Amino acid sequence: MTAYRYEVFTSDIERHIAAGTYKPGHKLPSVRVLKEKYKTSISTIQNGYEYLMIKGLVESVPKSGYYVSRQPFPAGHIKAVSRPPAVRDAVFRHRLQQTTGEGKPHSTAAFHAAAPGDLLMPQKLLLRTMQQVIRESGAALLRYYPPDGSPLLKEHIVKRAAGYNTLMQPENMLITDGALQALYIALAAVCMPGDVIAVESPCVFSVLEVISMLRLRVVEIPCSSDGFDIDFLKKSCIHAPVKAIVVTPNFHNPTGLLMTTAQKKQLLTVAQYHNIPLIENDIYGDLHFGAERPENILSMDDSGLVMTCASWSKSLAPGIRVGWLYAGKFFSRAEQLKFSLGSSVAPVYQETVAKLLQSRQYDRHVRAFRLQLARNAFMTINLLTTSFPAGIRYTTPQGGYGLWVQLPARTDISRFYVQCDKIGVQFTPGASFSYGNDYQRFFRIVFADKYTARRKQALRLAGQNLR
Ligand SMILES: Cc1ncc(COP(=O)(O)O)c(C=O)c1O
Repeated sequence: MTAYRYEVFTSDIERHIAAGTYKPGHKLPSVRVLKEKYKTSISTIQNGYEYLMIKGLVESVPKSGYYVSRQPFPAGHIKAVSRPPAVRDAVFRHRLQQTTGEGKPHSTAAFHAAAPGDLLMPQKLLLRTMQQVIRESGAALLRYYPPDGSPLLKEHIVKRAAGYNTLMQPENMLITDGALQALYIALAAVCMPGDVIAVESPCVFSVLEVISMLRLRVVEIPCSSDGFDIDFLKKSCIHAPVKAIVVTPNFHNPTGLLMTTAQKKQLLTVAQYHNIPLIENDIYGDLHFGAERPENILSMDDSGLVMTCASWSKSLAPGIRVGWLYAGKFFSRAEQLKFSLGSSVAPVYQETVAKLLQSRQYDRHVRAFRLQLARNAFMTINLLTTSFPAGIRYTTPQGGYGLWVQLPARTDISRFYVQCDKIGVQFTPGASFSYGNDYQRFFRIVFADKYTARRKQALRLAGQNLR
């Protein structure tokens, strides 16, 4: 994937800040100096500085210039919940997905739906490409396709993944009806009802629903601002016969956090030591705020235990219903399962995605989209820190769509949600992200829509009501 022009100089500045060469409050080189040094335009340097401001690393002082942030991206830091490793039945006490303001058809500010807002979705590009595909392929799109998917689409997925060091053989890949179906197939390929699996906690309710439907049992592995708790996983694997591990290492939902390379390797080592299939969900991997697309655990594996799934529901549009599963050595079982779930995904959608990948229009869209998401993340944190009570905690997302907020202990949660309802703000309450009771004081904010003045004001009011 080609980098933004400014990434040449922004990555140098980021390195200097990380190494401590540029300290908090340090004045950074002027736009003119950088323009000469990197032989580029003023607007490229300004865009680069804007990007560093979005990341919270740099501040702009009017009429003076750019400085290293004194308070780099305020970290609200959420600690892991503390409880012993225990197996839970994957059963929900109430209806699984709860949203504040449910039943209200038109809320002022929806921060609950993990889907690109209408204004950020590449509607024209998708509809135009779909029409082009229909014109070019005609009746061929109306026949059964191979159950494992369009060969052309698989070829493009494999080619693209090679660009971030993930090597896959197309014959071990299935095209699926979204990432959730891929996850369902991966789990069903290696587990039987009643088996125990490990899953990160909090975890998005749709994934929990799949686990529930497969009648599995779970150990929920705490995931916090410090990352995924590997020691907890190690203890769990001794305590229970874990048959699969399910994780979203790149911009986990709901926290938006990225597992470090070291954590990914440790996780893989645990899976390999116990011979446990590891299912990684990479649905948000393309939506990175940093310069580099993060790697997959699959790229580090030589055991064949890793299965990777993803889709274009988050980076293009959820209605496209195209995802994939790299099933590796579990392919033949996975293919059988896919066949039983309704043969192939609609050919027109598969070929539309193939065309977007082939023409690089997908890459162009994603570059603009992830910059917008990074801006939205920055705005959300700004609004949280300026309008919510001082005791709130939150994760600082490194990509993806959302962040995870913990309210102070004294908060009257029911009253908070009643107030949200009155203002017309919708969040997803924390209780939806676990089979247990750990997240009553948490909620998820999704920032995948444009920040209008109305949306900003609604979020401010939700916070001010808590003060
Ligand atoms: C981690 C994760 N996996 C899967 C999905 C659903 O993906 P799809 O619509 O492609 O089935 C979501 C959507 O919220 C998600 O956050």
